[in-house]
Amino acid sequence: MSLEFVHANIKDLDRIVEIERASMSTPWSRNSFIEAIESDHAFVNLVLYESEMAGYAVFYLTLPEAELPDIVISEEYRGQGIGRALLEQSLEELKELGVEKVFLEVRETNTPARLLYESMDFEQIGVRKYFYSEPVEDAICMSYEIV
Ligand SMILES: CC(C)(COP(=O)(O)OP(=O)(O)OC[C@H]1O[C@@H](n2cnc3c(N)ncnc32)[C@H](O)[C@@H]1OP(=O)(O)O)[C@@H](O)C(=O)NCCC(=O)NCCS
Repeated sequence: MSLEFVHANIKDLDRIVEIERASMSTPWSRNSFIEAIESDHAFVNLVLYESEMAGYAVFYLTLPEAELPDIVISEEYRGQGIGRALLEQSLEELKELGVEKVFLEVRETNTPARLLYESMDFEQIGVRKYFYSEPVEDAICMSYEIV
């Protein structure tokens, strides 16, 4: 499998927003992605499959911690190990940046994402009741220690 990882820039926005809208019930706005791409404290890591964008992960840095607010693999590329590869590569990069702990929230019923995080040794650290809308749902809060 030919995968590449690169940071997004503004020219990638249209495809990112397209994948986001097709995948999430409350998608991030275009402006949120612009802010993440342009911020010195954030990056959007793209995974390219045979040079086509297959997905992305957004990270916000507050060293020595980081937050993963959004990770999506476009539907046609799911189930092939690309999400895991993107997360693994991103964790390597975060380690090099001095990040020691990564936090995220995930919908309680989002089994694919929860199994991905658990299989990579993310640990549940709490629950935020009614955190999500459309549909209203609890968030499972997880963290990962980078060693
Ligand atoms: C969650 C997501 C990023 C996973 O990406 P992916 O490329 O399909 O995942 P991978 O093929 O790398 O699978 C990695 C692991 O995730 C879990 N997983 C992935 N798809 C799954 C499914 N349909 N059912 C159950 N577990 C699944 C498995 O543990 C899998 O490991 P395995 O193949 O060894 O069993 C993808 O499903 C997605 O984009 N979902 C919509 C957006 C979303 O919910 N993002 C997370 C927000 S918190």
